Amino acid sequence: MKITTRLNSSTKIIIGVGDPIKQTLSPKMHNPAYQALGIDDQFVYLSARVTEDNLSSALAGARALGIRGISVTVPHKQEAIKYLDEIDQVAKKIGAVNTILNNNGQLKGYNTDWIGAITSLEKRTQLKGKRVALFGAGGAARAIVYGLIKKGALVKIYNRTKEKSKKLAQEFHCLSGNLNQVEEIKEMDIIINATTLGMEPNISQTPLPNKFIEKHHLVFDIVFKPSETRLIREAKHKGAKVIYGYEMLLYQGVEQFKLYTGIDAPVEIMKEALVKSLNGKI
Ligand code: ATR
Repeated sequence: MKITTRLNSSTKIIIGVGDPIKQTLSPKMHNPAYQALGIDDQFVYLSARVTEDNLSSALAGARALGIRGISVTVPHKQEAIKYLDEIDQVAKKIGAVNTILNNNGQLKGYNTDWIGAITSLEKRTQLKGKRVALFGAGGAARAIVYGLIKKGALVKIYNRTKEKSKKLAQEFHCLSGNLNQVEEIKEMDIIINATTLGMEPNISQTPLPNKFIEKHHLVFDIVFKPSETRLIREAKHKGAKVIYGYEMLLYQGVEQFKLYTGIDAPVEIMKEALVKSLNGKI
């Protein structure tokens, strides 16, 4: 078999780091996009499992090796900030980075997660004045709350650990709710799951019992594996509009692509590659 590659000594490396990392779909989304634009000789997207103990040395290594970009995923999005030379204002406000650019040895952190979520939502609805029930108060929830507030939505946060939702709500000047009083969500417009409930292997879990989901709701689950979560399935059954988790992944990746390459991303190619890597199950 003849093996050809366009990789060469000038190819810039982008690397995704997390623990675990096996589940990442980013290389499958970015590399076909490089190919489609004919820049697969200039960029390659890889991934590496980096444990919490090794994050500092991994980033120092990336700096020393001239790695062009580092995508940061669970559990490093907050911790990585410590090792940066510079941080974008928005990422600082969110308190988490998912994208690092290496500019001649200077590491600068960004957050594209909030854009991923807000783009997905704004394709369906305006956000100004909309009442949103948001489940979760972790890193992903922080990015989404930032975006929702920026767009003028009225947000109420629900979380298992109440102190975390209270604190997040205080920080972004919105409300926090009680998981024993979710009846009020029936009156709201949008429901977002930013917890890990329903994610493989715990596919029978859901953040909200289906009796509180109504036809008028727009339901967005950021969990993308399985592609159709229990929450999404039940929302569809009620006749509600839904947004699958892969969309947030897609649009945060589209923004990353631009940061890493300086070129607008081929969105449809990335979408196709992502859906294919989820076995077309969208
Ligand atoms: P991420 O960066 O993806 O947001 P995270 O920061 O670990 O990940 O946040 C995970 C979110 O899922 C949190 O809101 C967490 O609730 P706690 O703050 O109470 O930990 C939520 N979560 C995870 N497992 C859960 C479970 N079994 N029941 C309810 N909430 C859960």
